[in-house]
Amino acid sequence: MKIIDNIKELKENIKSLNGSIGLVPTMGALHDGHKSLIDKAVKENDNVIVSIFVNPIQFCAGEDLDKYPRQLQLDAKLCEEAGVKIIFAPKVNEMYDDDKNNLTLICPSYSVVDKLCGKSRPGHFDGVCSVVAKLFNLTKAHKAYFGQKDAQQLFIIQKMVRDLNFDIEIIPCPIVREKDNLAMSSRNKYLTQKDRLDALNISKALFEAKKLAQTNTATKRAIIDNSLSLMKDLNVEYIEFVDKNTFMEQDEIDKNTLVLIAARTKETNTRLIDNILLWELV
Ligand code: PAF
Repeated sequence: MKIIDNIKELKENIKSLNGSIGLVPTMGALHDGHKSLIDKAVKENDNVIVSIFVNPIQFCAGEDLDKYPRQLQLDAKLCEEAGVKIIFAPKVNEMYDDDKNNLTLICPSYSVVDKLCGKSRPGHFDGVCSVVAKLFNLTKAHKAYFGQKDAQQLFIIQKMVRDLNFDIEIIPCPIVREKDNLAMSSRNKYLTQKDRLDALNISKALFEAKKLAQTNTATKRAIIDNSLSLMKDLNVEYIEFVDKNTFMEQDEIDKNTLVLIAARTKETNTRLIDNILLWELV
């Protein structure tokens, strides 16, 4: 496995690869959620590239860019054991000009972008789409793997690929959870013991939402009330019901309902997201 930190070497190495290329874009601090993406990519491709890049332009002012966990050596061990061919871990100035106000960006501008995470993180999806597009171009990957925990990100990237005709297949991968159902996230590292206990109520609210929906008697309002009472020790940013195919908000639940939650823990102000399809078979 090679760890490459510059574009010139990445391009040379890609030229010498035979067969299909799978890309797993990450910001590092890899956990079992990432590992499930990498394992799937290794199964489905002749070569797998994992990018590890804490992308500054997708963080808003005051967010956790500086403290975001960076652990390249540990990440490299996980990748090597999983059968990854190349880790691409560039420095910021390899990816962007010094003047961050003077870049060509991809700025998706339809309504889904400004909702949910886009509402509290203005410009976030411009940063995500721009870096992902660069990674697609640089790696010439045939398939790219994204986790369904970031459901809105996945939706926006799938649409970008369609709208801009990228020649790449996006492979959605299921959410991976800890034994107690907390959705895996690199940001779980920030949690104190108390935060972590409180955070469990996010997945609890989602699993209860699913149970309630499947009784066929619960309304959206009843599900929201139950969720908010479970999450009383968190600062809930949103609990939203959207159609999984359009990301349009729903007034009533139906077979396509995806429930999404974003909430901050009280001790460390860690922002966590999670989601569930109400009618997906367990
Ligand atoms: O989901 C992430 O880790 C990031 O948003 C991504 C897709 C790697 C882009 O920086």
